[in-house]
Amino acid sequence: AQPQRIETDSMTLTRFVLAEQKKVPHATGELTQLLNALLTALKAVSSAVRRGGIAKLHGIAGLTNIQGEDQHKIDVLANKLFINMLKSSFTTCLMVSEENENVIEVETEKQGKYVVCFDPLDGSSNIDCLVSIGSIFCIYKKISEGEIGVQDALQPGRNIVAAGYALYGSATMVMLSIGQGVNGFMLDPSIGEFVLTERNVRIKPRGKYYSINEGYSQYWEKGVMDYVNNKKYPKEGCNAYNARYIGSMVADVHRTIMYGGIFIYPANKKSPNGKLRLLYECNPMAYIVEQAGGIATTGTKPVLDVVPENIHQRCPIALGSPEDVNEYLECVKKV
Ligand code: AHG
Ligand code: MN
Ligand code: MN
Ligand code: MN
Repeated sequence: AQPQRIETDSMTLTRFVLAEQKKVPHATGELTQLLNALLTALKAVSSAVRRGGIAKLHGIAGLTNIQGEDQHKIDVLANKLFINMLKSSFTTCLMVSEENENVIEVETEKQGKYVVCFDPLDGSSNIDCLVSIGSIFCIYKKISEGEIGVQDALQPGRNIVAAGYALYGSATMVMLSIGQGVNGFMLDPSIGEFVLTERNVRIKPRGKYYSINEGYSQYWEKGVMDYVNNKKYPKEGCNAYNARYIGSMVADVHRTIMYGGIFIYPANKKSPNGKLRLLYECNPMAYIVEQAGGIATTGTKPVLDVVPENIHQRCPIALGSPEDVNEYLECVKKV
C-alpha cells in the first residue's frame, strides 16, 4: 500500500491568511491573529461534535436561550470556546452570539479593534441524529470613537471585513472570505490544520436544487408558493428541480454554493421576518454567497443592505445562484 503522502508544503489556512495580510500595506496582523484564534475554537468544536455521543455531549443542557430554544450541550460548549478564544486573542472588543442575550464586551485591557458576530453551533436540532451541523461568523471593525457599544454590533453587512463558516459534515470544512473571493479549507485531522482544497469558489449561474422547509407551505405568501410550484411543476420543456432540505443552514448553504441552486427561508404568516437571524446567520452567509458570485436577498432588498435595529432580529432570506434567485424575485415581486 502507498505510504500516506505527507505534504511538505500544504497551503494551510494560517499560511493563506498571512500571505493575504502581507498584500495589505500597514496591515497589523490583528485579523490574522483573530482568525487563528477562531480556528482553535472551530477545531475544538469539530472534535466535540465527532466525539459527542461518546463523550456524553449529546442532548440538551437544560437551559433555554434568548431565542426561547432549548440549548444543547454542544451549543453551550461551542459558545464558551468562541468567547474564550476570541477574548484571549487581544483582537476583539465586542461580540454578539446567538446564545447570549446581550452583547459581550471584552475587558478593556484585552480589547482589539474587531467586532465578531457568531452562531457557535448552527443546526442544533440535527446534533443528536448525526446530521451535518456548523458554526457561522462574521467580523467588523469597531466604528465608535470612544467606548464600545451596541452600535458597533448594529452595522449593516456591507461593512463586513471577513466572514466564514465551518461545516461539521463527512469532513470538517471552513469556507472563508476576507473580501477577495471565497476559499475552502478542509481539516486534516492528522496534522490538525485546515488545508486549502477549494480555491476561489464560484457559484454556478443556475443550479437544479431548491431548498426550503415545505412544512410551512400553508403560511407562505403567494409569491413563494408560485416559485416553489414552478420548480415542482415546470413549464413545458423545463425540468423539475430536486428538493434538498437538511435543516442546518450551514449544510444547505454549502450545498447551494458547491452545486448551485437556491436556499430560501422566507417570511411566513407565523414568522413575519422568517426565522434566521440577521447578524450571525443571514449577513455572514449573504457576504460569502456574494463573494462567490451569487445573490442574497430579503425578497425586497439585498440582505447586506439591511441596517440592523437589534442584535437578534430575524430576516427573511433567499440566496444562491443568480438566475435562480432572480427568478424567485420575479415571483415574489409580482404579487
Ligand atoms: P440554530 O441551530 O443555530 O438555532 O439554527 C437553526 C436554523 C438553521 O440552521 C436552519 O436553516 C433553520 O434553523 C431550520 O429551521 P426549520 O427547522 O424551521 O426549517
Ligand atoms: Mn439556536
Ligand atoms: Mn443557526
Ligand atoms: Mn446556533
